[in-house]
Amino acid sequence: MKIHRAHFVESNSQVEKCPKSKLPEYAFIGRSNVGKSSLINALTNQKKLAKTSGKPGKTQLINHFLIDNSWHLVDLPGYGYAKVSKTEKKVFQKFITDYFLQRMQLCCAFVLVDCRHEPQKIDLNFMEWLGTNGLPFHIIFTKADKLKPSVLEVNIENYKKIMLENWEEMPKYFITSSTTKRGSEELITYIQTLNSTL
Ligand code: GTP
Ligand code: MG
Repeated sequence: MKIHRAHFVESNSQVEKCPKSKLPEYAFIGRSNVGKSSLINALTNQKKLAKTSGKPGKTQLINHFLIDNSWHLVDLPGYGYAKVSKTEKKVFQKFITDYFLQRMQLCCAFVLVDCRHEPQKIDLNFMEWLGTNGLPFHIIFTKADKLKPSVLEVNIENYKKIMLENWEEMPKYFITSSTTKRGSEELITYIQTLNSTL
């Protein structure tokens, strides 16, 4: 399955101001620089729909994109990067947590993690926070093009092992690359399947 049309709708810093539309939506969240905005561009086949940057902290607001006139894809600011003190860094920005807690249209979150890295505490904490609040999520491993297949496999097995220390099962996950578009069709098909069950 492919995306045929994608438009930017609006950016907001408060969940209360987000689009009133009741269309189902899916949010990309994860550390700064993990590749959230790039993946939105890869999925929609547009180079500049979502703003990307080599420097962390590019996306600062809640950005809604309307996909095929039937659902929203939401690009969020990264966590784990802020020009603030260490204690403040530990707290996820309030407008992001408000978004997850209050946005009734949200079908599920996709937590993006860079497949090159060991499981990071901040990601594990965020997933725990989602779980505690009963919010469904899946994992997207990004930048798969940067690893040899054998290393990728080892890293994913390691991620599973760490996840299983706290979770009964490994959440559903996707392996993606915005450069090669690996995983794009699978992800779109999955979202479309969820949409069709609503
Ligand atoms: P913030 O908006 O700061 O939270 O970052 P983000 O998660 O939206 O990351 P962004 O998409 O801006 O990408 C960060 C950097 O990683 C950019 O230099 C991208 O070109 C690069 N990048 C993203 N995805 C991939 C990928 O799949 N493969 C490779 N090789 N590079 C990627
Ligand atoms: Mg971004």
